[in-house]
Amino acid sequence: MTSLKKTGKIVKGSNLAIICENWKNKAVYNLDSNVSEYISKQLSDPEKKFVSINHLGLLVYVIIIDSKKDINKTNEVLRKNGSTICDGVNSIKGKQIAIINDTLKSAHSIALAEGIALGNYQFIKHKPSAAKNINTLESVLINDSRLKDAQLNNLTVVIDATIKARDLVNEPVNNLNAEGLVEAFKNFGKQGGFKVEVYNKAKIQQLKMGGLLSVNAGSVDPPTFTIMEYKPKGAKNKKPYVLVGKGVVYDTGGLSLKPTPNSMDSMKCDMAGAAAVGATMFAIAKAKLKVHVIGLVPATDNRPGFNAFAPGDIITMMDGSTVEMLNSDAEGRMILADALHFAKKYNPELTIDVATLTGAAAAAIGQYGIVSMGTAGERHVNRLKESGHRVHERLAEFPFWDEYDELMKSDIADQKNIGGPYGGAITAGKFLAKFTNYPYMHLDIAGPAFIAGKDSYRPKGASGVGVRLLFDFFSNLSK
Ligand code: BES
Ligand code: MN
Ligand code: ZN
Repeated sequence: MTSLKKTGKIVKGSNLAIICENWKNKAVYNLDSNVSEYISKQLSDPEKKFVSINHLGLLVYVIIIDSKKDINKTNEVLRKNGSTICDGVNSIKGKQIAIINDTLKSAHSIALAEGIALGNYQFIKHKPSAAKNINTLESVLINDSRLKDAQLNNLTVVIDATIKARDLVNEPVNNLNAEGLVEAFKNFGKQGGFKVEVYNKAKIQQLKMGGLLSVNAGSVDPPTFTIMEYKPKGAKNKKPYVLVGKGVVYDTGGLSLKPTPNSMDSMKCDMAGAAAVGATMFAIAKAKLKVHVIGLVPATDNRPGFNAFAPGDIITMMDGSTVEMLNSDAEGRMILADALHFAKKYNPELTIDVATLTGAAAAAIGQYGIVSMGTAGERHVNRLKESGHRVHERLAEFPFWDEYDELMKSDIADQKNIGGPYGGAITAGKFLAKFTNYPYMHLDIAGPAFIAGKDSYRPKGASGVGVRLLFDFFSNLSK
């Protein structure tokens, strides 16, 4: 990843990005007089908040912010500026950019650096012919007297984790099946410093994880169930937080087969929740946050192979309840249900699942946020929502009214696995809540997990959504 370092001096001969409230301290930046004159002229237009100039092969950027505006919005603008700057530096084959923060908040240089580093991401390992297009930008130097080493360290960790999640999601199923996902988690555990335990198919059968096994029945690859645990000395929480990630390494829809164009073709992303959970575990352990967190990932592909579960099947879940399985494309809830039941044994403070669960969630709010719902109290919900605003992975809370439970009733089993034509994101959440007995939040990331085109510092494809959100959430609980 792009290296991030602090610096105390104005770096000569480097590309430069200056963040300030107004363009008055120009003398201290040691700019060529032509350059500062050009910038002054541009900024005489009060609407102008972003100026760039290429002077003798070096780029200078000036970003004007307004400290009276909402800091979260300002920081998101800075992340986007960061992505523009990253593209600019790469376009001139530059290796380095130095940030000067002339504002009163280190959060601004952090946001700009974050946008640069996340924007610098590429997934071209399977494209040898793209070798010449590899980004040249290697390092970001930050000149910011307020920036603490711990802040820079946490930023480095969360960017690294986001990139790890993106890499996993972008990897197609022919290179990453359920067992491959487990290997990745084991590596995260080694690199970050947390425990990883894996249940194989025999153990999953012994535990009677009927939901996970039913989805796996049409596959030639075995399912896996991963338990990650990070329990530092001096954790602030008595009861653990549990994260559950949907690990469908590929979703064909099963016998309820998806049509290929625009639906199945991006379904390697159906383990984005699992990737977010694994990468978050890595980040919180690496940053040595003082929180006890457990991550659970049920994983399998969903295929229409020989013994594939068939619409109409009645499945006995791990908790002993039965499900009339009427659509094999509603598979995520089947595997998550067993994991949510499994989580009961930890007596969690809060359980959050992260899942690319429904097209309905994506249809409702698009790629711009996470659909959330659940049974957790306001204290938990508000904390997570605040994190969402800080990192710009915002939550849109959906209703969780009792009426939706009715839609999941079956005549011949305890529940169906599909609801009616409306409220599909919510009925999915309602199905899952039946397997919980603790404060619970369900995050449906089907919209933002995998995007059709570059959106500034979120590249085309995997976004790594969820990692920055959960890392911010746990950072605050660790204080
Ligand atoms: N993995 C999909 C949901 C999805 C859709 C994720 C688009 C990312 C982008 C999920 O397993 C699914 O197929 N859901 C069905 C549920 C339905 C059959 C009740 C859906 O949303 O159509
Ligand atoms: Mn599906
Ligand atoms: Zn799915």
